[in-house]
Amino acid sequence: MRILVTGGAGFIGSNFARLVTKERPEWETIVLDKLTYAGNPANVRDLRAMQGFSFVQGDICDKALVGDLIPGCDAVVNFAAETHVDRSLAGADDFVRTDILGTNTMLEVVRHHPRIRYLQVSTDEVYGSLPTGSAVEDSPLNPGNPYSASKAGGDLLALSYHRSFGLDVVITRSSNNFGPYQYPEKVMPLFLTNVLEGKPVPLYGDGMNVRDWLFVEDNCRGVLTVLEKGVSGEVYNIGAGNELPNIEVTMMILDAVGASSDMIRYVEDRPGHDRRYSLKCDKIARLGWAPSGDFPGQLSRTAAWYRDNRAWWEPLKSGEFKDYYRRMYEGRRGYSETSPVSG
Ligand code: NAD
Ligand code: TYD
Repeated sequence: MRILVTGGAGFIGSNFARLVTKERPEWETIVLDKLTYAGNPANVRDLRAMQGFSFVQGDICDKALVGDLIPGCDAVVNFAAETHVDRSLAGADDFVRTDILGTNTMLEVVRHHPRIRYLQVSTDEVYGSLPTGSAVEDSPLNPGNPYSASKAGGDLLALSYHRSFGLDVVITRSSNNFGPYQYPEKVMPLFLTNVLEGKPVPLYGDGMNVRDWLFVEDNCRGVLTVLEKGVSGEVYNIGAGNELPNIEVTMMILDAVGASSDMIRYVEDRPGHDRRYSLKCDKIARLGWAPSGDFPGQLSRTAAWYRDNRAWWEPLKSGEFKDYYRRMYEGRRGYSETSPVSG
């Protein structure tokens, strides 16, 4: 078995590559990654010495390159994407290019090699905000921001290649992941590392937006389950049932690093901020997958990882990130480095 893991130098892709090299040592794993700001060779440095692991720097939109790499593989697992909602609100060109055009570029290659299984890694965000209830796999897509709209475009293309050309396509849609190696723009590593640097944490709006928190290793096991057992043409939700308002998760994060609620700054909300995501995950449960549970324990292990791995995240928060942070936060209503929160 030889698999191409695109976006494998990012957060989830690198955790997936690590899981596969450990649990399927007989497989050959090729990581293809463009190394955008979010891609980091350090995320897979420990894997480079492993037999059967190789790394290629390149773009999933490069048809010649993917045309070279894909035909020798048995499966493609596409993690490669632009992934941060706030960046998509600032400008969506790269999202449309990678998440839609890049997906199509690979599907076009797979089309001529129909024995290859293609797994598209997607998100609960494609269902949009749900005031009540939980999304099942055939719930309507109702993306609320340019990131989720681009991901929905990728999903629809992948499904259309299954229906039109019989490609062996499967899709996973997971909830918010957290764990080691997550780029510190996402809320959990941003808040953890801010506190470790003695900086406040900017909580959007009223802090009552709800996300379902899924430990990255659980998601990776889910992706592997769908890769091996998923039915062609089907979509599988992957969630953990840890639906919590952001303020509660923030309090748990602060607690995990010994900080108090004085570190919270309620800042101007994200435009179009989806209020609540929620997934029903009975379908993947029928394939034998279940989340491992213990959200508080997973969160405290994650906090310990960021505390112990400053050498990993400190370089990421210098340079371009400082400009990003200034642009994204410092002009925001409610943002302050100094004043304590007043309730
Ligand atoms: P990430 O931003 O950490 O990593 C994305 C990786 O893709 C990076 O290594 C980047 O260099 C690479 N990449 C970007 N554009 C590329 C291109 N054109 N060609 C090749 N490589 C490219 O993202 P992540 O959080 O690891 O997410 C991985 C996948 O999972 C994405 O498809 C995302 O939509 C999906 N997802 C993420 C979450 C989450 O909570 N993080 C939840 C659900 C779904
Ligand atoms: P994020 O990690 O950006 O993931 P997503 O938007 O894909 O769910 O954000 C998770 C939640 O945290 C979301 O409701 C927005 C909120 N959030 C903040 O309150 N402050 C922040 O600085 C960030 C980045 C996110």
